Amino acid sequence: MRVLFLAPNFPAEMPHFSQGLAEVGATVVGVGQHPKEALPEKCRRALSNYLRVTSIMDEERTYQEVLSEIKKVGAGFDRVETLWEPLVMLAARLREKLGCPGMRPHQAVAFRDKEEMKRRLDAAGIRTPRHARAESADEMRAAAEKIGYPLIVKPIAGAGSADTYRVDDRQRLEQVITLVQHVPVVSVEEFIEGREFTFDTVCGGGRPLFYNIAWYRPRPLVMRTVQWISPQVVALRNPDQDELADGRQMGFDVLKALDYHSGFTHMEWFLKDDGEVVFGEIGARVGGARLIDQMNYSNDCDLYRGWAEAVCYGRLSEPVQRRYNVAIIFKRAQGEGRIRQIAGLDRYLARYGQHVVTLDLLPVGAHRRDWKQTLVSDGYAIVRHPHLDSCLELADRFGTDVQLFAGG
Ligand SMILES: Nc1ncnc2c1ncn2[C@@H]1O[C@H](COP(=O)(O)OP(=O)(O)O)[C@@H](O)[C@H]1O
Ligand SMILES: [Mg+2]
Repeated sequence: MRVLFLAPNFPAEMPHFSQGLAEVGATVVGVGQHPKEALPEKCRRALSNYLRVTSIMDEERTYQEVLSEIKKVGAGFDRVETLWEPLVMLAARLREKLGCPGMRPHQAVAFRDKEEMKRRLDAAGIRTPRHARAESADEMRAAAEKIGYPLIVKPIAGAGSADTYRVDDRQRLEQVITLVQHVPVVSVEEFIEGREFTFDTVCGGGRPLFYNIAWYRPRPLVMRTVQWISPQVVALRNPDQDELADGRQMGFDVLKALDYHSGFTHMEWFLKDDGEVVFGEIGARVGGARLIDQMNYSNDCDLYRGWAEAVCYGRLSEPVQRRYNVAIIFKRAQGEGRIRQIAGLDRYLARYGQHVVTLDLLPVGAHRRDWKQTLVSDGYAIVRHPHLDSCLELADRFGTDVQLFAGG
């Protein structure tokens, strides 16, 4: 089994996926733009070869460079994989060209273009927010009149809630039109009130082999807009509970409608107060910000390896035990510059330490990260508990009782 793995070292989780592939017996050839010597040790050990390209974000150039290198050495591949969103289309094109099984470009586009995504799901009878594509101020105005307020304006190929705005009236729309001037194409959508969840899967051989539902507290747009909160994502021990049944079913229906074959998926959906479920978005990749570690801690399994087995052999032998609710809590320091104090941590650990499975806060002296650019912010803790109420309390306590201060 020879696997061409795009971006084997970035984002942060990728070296573990590289290792997962090696562990299930694949011969892994990495493609990236960093020098081989600069790759993390775990990644270097997993790769049998590495193909360095000029600029991984330049899709056409990378496509050509990879193909010419492969031709030169006469190598063949059984799989082309990536778990990084910007490379999903590149992977699909290479897969098609090299004759490997899996998602083709005409399928991948539904995971990258949020209007095409909703168009295909509408055709399959799935409830999406009312929506329109807009490339100019006038098209945005026309879309707003058609859809009605409140609405949301967001990039058609966005990520991390960047350039995403709630709009309540015409006046605000005019402001937002100015704010998104640099975004070539936007999606204008009906604003859906309610709670927000994920639906994550590992698929293999055209079937979901594992699924997970996580709850965002609060909604990602609020996480990204309000600095003082400590956002949480809670991977639920019981994704089969009644309240989530319609969302779960929608998740399976979406995968079928988009004809997803193998690999991770990360979908987001809304649960309204009246019980209606509405589709949000879906990516052909693993969720970011350590969501995979939460799934692993929830089930005491290794989905880095599980994913590798699924894409290579169409099966999943990792045990799915559903033992814990797992919350991750992200911290943002108060003040700017370098971290100068972490308050409340010792007391928290003395009381709750047995439930903390990972703690990764920036150390005193480190420069703050840009909380708008990375949900991981100035660090995080992962806590787990079999009971949801207890898990939420552990998470809320970490949010309120542990504080980082920066300054100077
Ligand atoms: N139609 C909508 N109604 C309400 N909130 C929305 C809507 N679309 C997006 N949002 C909010 O904006 C966030 C980011 O939008 P999303 O479509 O998930 O894009 P991305 O995560 O790729 O930036 C969502 O998690 C949600 O909080
Ligand atoms: Mg999203």
